[in-house]
Amino acid sequence: MNTRYQVTNAFTMVHPITLTHGKNACVWDTNNKSYIDFVGGIGVLNFGHCQPKIVEAITKQAQLLTHYAYNAAGHLPYQTLMPRLCQWVAASMHAVNTNKAPAALSPQAIADFDSEPHAKAVALSGMLTNSGAEATENALKIARLKTKRVGVIAFDGGFHGRTLAAVNLNGKVAPYKRGLGPLSSAVYHIPFPSPDNTVSDQQAMAALTRLFEIETDVDNIGAFIVEPIQGEGGFQRLSPSFAQYLRAFCDEHGIVLIMDEIQSGYGRTGVPFAFMHLGVNPDLLLLGKSIAGGLPLGAVIGTDDLMNDLPKGSLGGTYSGNPVACAAANATFDIMADATTWENAQHYSDVIETSVSTWQAENLSPWLHGLTGVGAMRGIELRHKEAGTNPQVMTHILTEARARGLLLMPSGKYRHIIRLLPPLTIEPETLQHGLDILKEVLQSIPKHFSQPTNTQPTSAESNNNTAAKTLAAG
Ligand SMILES: Cc1ncc(COP(=O)(O)O)c(C=O)c1O
Repeated sequence: MNTRYQVTNAFTMVHPITLTHGKNACVWDTNNKSYIDFVGGIGVLNFGHCQPKIVEAITKQAQLLTHYAYNAAGHLPYQTLMPRLCQWVAASMHAVNTNKAPAALSPQAIADFDSEPHAKAVALSGMLTNSGAEATENALKIARLKTKRVGVIAFDGGFHGRTLAAVNLNGKVAPYKRGLGPLSSAVYHIPFPSPDNTVSDQQAMAALTRLFEIETDVDNIGAFIVEPIQGEGGFQRLSPSFAQYLRAFCDEHGIVLIMDEIQSGYGRTGVPFAFMHLGVNPDLLLLGKSIAGGLPLGAVIGTDDLMNDLPKGSLGGTYSGNPVACAAANATFDIMADATTWENAQHYSDVIETSVSTWQAENLSPWLHGLTGVGAMRGIELRHKEAGTNPQVMTHILTEARARGLLLMPSGKYRHIIRLLPPLTIEPETLQHGLDILKEVLQSIPKHFSQPTNTQPTSAESNNNTAAKTLAAG
């Protein structure tokens, strides 16, 4: 290989392998070694690699129209997708309003919702983007244009993308903000209260009170941005009671509540959108990753009053809502509309819960702290009772699992949570095989990682390991 012409080395690559092809929950590398894939291109493949219906839709569309810029002329895949997307979001919001969430929505429930008289009161509109970060950027613009306020409140440990405004929202300095100097705009961070961490609702509320006493007036704040389940942050759920508080706070102060479901959306938690688990609806919903089964696409969906009457030309982009990506997204809806998808997701989440609780009962490893997340969006937390967290443990697990044919993805502030992102459509025997490998690997963690010379502080707050701080992937 010519070493003068290369891909920049600014990427962190979790797995130093080169892939050639994939099928549902498996991928193969250039040595024809196969792997069970619990990474899914970082949460993009909730319905598997090369899902046949998605591939068929892509192939058909590629023969009809590969590109048109929606700012120049409309095309059918975009015009088919957007009403469908808005309808699913509206039906999901309705499920929240009527206390029916969380439950998977059947196509019948969506159709029934649309024919109900009150459905007419719910009007949503949206736009498509090329990526998650671009959805984040557009949501910030919309909130600014509508509220005429520039301040944004985000959460510790949150992740919203790598573009300059999005990076400013991330609740983590390294590697995302390091070396960038001062970032523009007024962004404030508060702790993320979760049943999966040690932050309480009261602590987050106290941080807000402090913010408005010391840093800025509440009238400067145009938006909150929050992940209902943090992705890169370690599959941690937002506290539902805090979410209710946040909703009421935003309503009281005219603040836009942006929920970033780029990772948690599209069935990842076992229901279409994770806000359904919180019992709270967003004003703007950000989508991406699994929306188009592997093709680059993102979306901002919001209430009509926010999404319409914006300055003409203020939203758009040459490639955003590309016809082939939209065709893939339309096929993704067909899969979500199939009841077996949700049965599979339920099976997956049951197996994960049973396996991890059995491993805990067997005292499989002193590092196995338990599961984070909800439904089918689960992380395995690696935290030793005495030694706390240690990113070397994650490195060991990733390397050993890969050698045995399983790809895993790290997450969490201290690189201490394995995020499990296999397709929801994973075959039961492949899932079992993957979990068997994971079990072996957890048993193989060397004892010396918990000895004093290698240990990290038990207190999460005082942990300051460079490897933990710099290795991340989004
Ligand atoms: C919650 C969340 N928001 C935003 C993004 C950014 O998406 P993209 O990488 O497509 O720009 C990610 C990516 O990991 C994400 O997980």
